[in-house]
Amino acid sequence: MTEVALSVRGLSKSFSGLKAVNNIHFDLKKNEIMGLIGPNGSGKSTTFNTITGIIPADSGSVKVFGEEVMGRPPHEISSLGLSRTFQNTRLWRELTVLENLMIPPKNQFGTSVLNALMPWKYKKQEGELIEKAYTILKLLEIEHMAENYASELSGGQSKLVDIGRLLMSDAKILMLDEPVAGVAGPLTEKIFQTLKKLRKELGLTILIIEHNMDFILRKGIDHIVVMANGEEILNGPPDIVRQSLDVIDAYLGE
Ligand SMILES: Nc1ncnc2c1ncn2[C@@H]1O[C@H](COP(=O)(O)OP(=O)(O)OP(=O)(O)O)[C@@H](O)[C@H]1O
Ligand SMILES: [Mg+2]
Repeated sequence: MTEVALSVRGLSKSFSGLKAVNNIHFDLKKNEIMGLIGPNGSGKSTTFNTITGIIPADSGSVKVFGEEVMGRPPHEISSLGLSRTFQNTRLWRELTVLENLMIPPKNQFGTSVLNALMPWKYKKQEGELIEKAYTILKLLEIEHMAENYASELSGGQSKLVDIGRLLMSDAKILMLDEPVAGVAGPLTEKIFQTLKKLRKELGLTILIIEHNMDFILRKGIDHIVVMANGEEILNGPPDIVRQSLDVIDAYLGE
């Protein structure tokens, strides 16, 4: 049986009486790509925020590779291999692409004053991190942009660098909040191809939020959960979701 990477049970969160996320259940199997879709305001980002511990959930259970993480702080949850991007990409615009990738890894020697006395130690580590960053940039097919400032990147290139930062911290489950929002047509295709490549070559598990249902249904991903008004209204493979009148109704009613 395939290992479950992320298991969510009865997840709920209200904001002043508004049920933003209401009793959500799903399993994301290892090496699967899942879409979490639904109209604006349906609770997708709040689902991410509660899973990753950024906002405390009111109730429910979240297990990462079988380990309960409810109530734990975000850094502890991410140390289990669960990493996410935010809906608004947050790169350090005044730094280069390479520098943006160098910041996320933890336990770097350069952050300690004591280690300033032992430059050989952090030089070695820095060399290894640069090598790792180039391997990731190559995988993402943006190694030619390593020395460009983040402020010079297009929307789609920024999204790829954002994904690259997750890979630098050895993420095993990538949670991407609208990875193609605001990205021009051909680059959206490239981002999806890249995600499929990461799944295949690095064995990653990927959860993608998208509010354009037609778009995500065309992308041939494994499994889809549809939310509307905080509720989970469908959970299944894309062809079943596509056929569902419930979903069409939810969208017509939007
Ligand atoms: N921190 C917050 N405080 C109060 N209300 C919030 C907060 N975050 C989200 N909400 C509300 O919860 C509901 C769900 O919002 P959420 O951002 O999860 O939706 P979404 O599905 O990600 O939407 P979009 O597609 O627009 O990104 C919305 O009504 C929103 O206004
Ligand atoms: Mg959102």
